[in-house]
Parts: sequence; C-alpha cells; structure tokens
Amino acid sequence: MQDNQIRFDDGAAYEDFMGKWSQLAGDTFLQWLAPADGWRWVDVGCGNGAFTEMLVQRHAPAGVQGIDPSEAQLAFARARLVGAPVAFELGDATALPYANGAFDAAVMALVIFFVPDPAKGVAEMARVVRPGGSVSAYAWDILGGGFPFAAMQEEMALLGSTPIWPPSIEAARIDALQALWAGVGLVDIETREIEVERTFSDFDTFWVISQTGPRVAPRLAAMAPADVALLKERVRARLPADAAGRITYRASANAVKGHVPT
Ligand SMILES: C[S@@+](CC[C@H](N)C(=O)[O-])C[C@H]1O[C@@H](n2cnc3c(N)ncnc32)[C@H](O)[C@@H]1O
Repeated sequence: MQDNQIRFDDGAAYEDFMGKWSQLAGDTFLQWLAPADGWRWVDVGCGNGAFTEMLVQRHAPAGVQGIDPSEAQLAFARARLVGAPVAFELGDATALPYANGAFDAAVMALVIFFVPDPAKGVAEMARVVRPGGSVSAYAWDILGGGFPFAAMQEEMALLGSTPIWPPSIEAARIDALQALWAGVGLVDIETREIEVERTFSDFDTFWVISQTGPRVAPRLAAMAPADVALLKERVRARLPADAAGRITYRASANAVKGHVPT
C-alpha cells in the first residue's frame, strides 16, 4: 500500500531542503511582525528549529517553547540551540499542552498546511496567548505555485508521478489565512505576500538537494531511469544558470498576523 503522508524523519536533511528556505521567508516575516524583545513564544511545528533559531538570535526572547510531532526534527532543534532559552517537546498543533494565556506570542512557520484541522490549530494558538499578544504564521503559497521546488513537482507530475502535498494546502491561501484568523476572534489582522529567492552554486547542487525532501526519493525510485533522466533535463531547462553556473530559484509565501483581543 502506498504511504501518502509527508513525514519529517531527518532533521539534518530538512535543513538544506527546507530549513534554509524557511529562514529566507522568516527574515522578511520577522521584519514585518516586528516583535518586542523579551517575549515568551510558542513555536508551533518548530521542526528542526530553523525559525526558532531566528527568534533566539534576533529577538532576545524570555523563552521559546517549541512543539512538533517529529522526534527527529526536535533532536536537531535541541542540538542547534544548546544553551539558548528554549525548550522542545513532542506534540500536536491541535492540542497544545499549555495553559490559557501562557505566552506573549504564538507562531507557525511553514506549518498550517500540515495541520489536518487548521481552524483548530489557530484556535489553540489564540487560546495559549495572553490578551493583546501576537498570533502569526507564514506558509508557502502552494496553490499559487509558490512552493520551493515547484518546478520539480510539476515536471514529475507531467511524467506521471503524482505530487504528494500536505493535507490542508488551501489554508495557506491569503484569503484563507485572513478568514482563519478572523474566525477565532483575532483582531488587527494583516496579511502579506513574501517573495524569496535562493541561489544554488550549480544545477547539480540544486538537483541533489531537491531529492532530499520528504517522499521525493521514493517517487524517483519508482520512475523508470529514462524518465528520471528526462525529468532532470526538463527541470534543468526551467532553471537557467548564470554566467558562473549558479541557479536562482524563487518561491512565495503568504503571511498573517493578528492579536488576541484585550
Ligand atoms: C515545513 S516544516 C516547518 C518547520 C519549521 N517551523 C521551519 O520553519 O523550518 C513543517 C513541520 O510541521 C510539523 N507538523 C506536521 N504536522 C503537525 C501538526 N499537526 N502539529 C504541529 N506540527 C506539525 C512537521 O513535523 C514539521 O516539522
């Protein structure tokens, strides 16, 4: 039986495949969010700590509680943030094991589309943040073609390998984020798009990294070798190299922020 779930079982592989992308989007996101220093944060779906690290390095948090259902991701997060005021635990966005109003801010970085009941996940973030506190998120605009490696996914689909997407990709549309935040009673809601680009030293580097994502390698293994070779050439044709052989790839995310009413 085919396993169609995306699992994150390698925090180190995640770093090159997606952690670096998350930090590129997180940079613009944090400038827009403009949080104060000294906040108590909950980082929901913290993964391998890519975004948590930015909070620690830039916003002098009183503490960050990371929570994620992947032990492999959490192990990487713990190792990268030794000595920082952070704690990580296993758990799910739809059942946060924290008291009402326990944090100044809750955030989901590239997570909302993985939550099977996104409204429940947003309600949980609103519940655990104090009145006046911040609830925010950013997520790839997958349906708008903004996913990093979308070219790879599209070309695989054309060769008969159906993409495996997270279960709630519609929740990452900008109007859906606005509705989710309003639906749980958050106020001062704002949304924006975030465009990012990442440069790879050459096409082969991009090609290798693009295969480290969850579920990509098994799909390639199931394709005929001739189709994999064709795929590689079609993806290469979509990503022209500059004079130095570098590939620059663009992606786009949608972001939302709001406050718990006072
Ligand atoms: C694309 S990664 C984002 C990780 C990190 N926030 C970052 O910015 O790099 C998505 C993360 O969501 C986690 N996740 C999946 N389902 C979840 C759920 N129901 N509740 C909380 N986290 C979930 C995954 O384990 C994974 O670590």
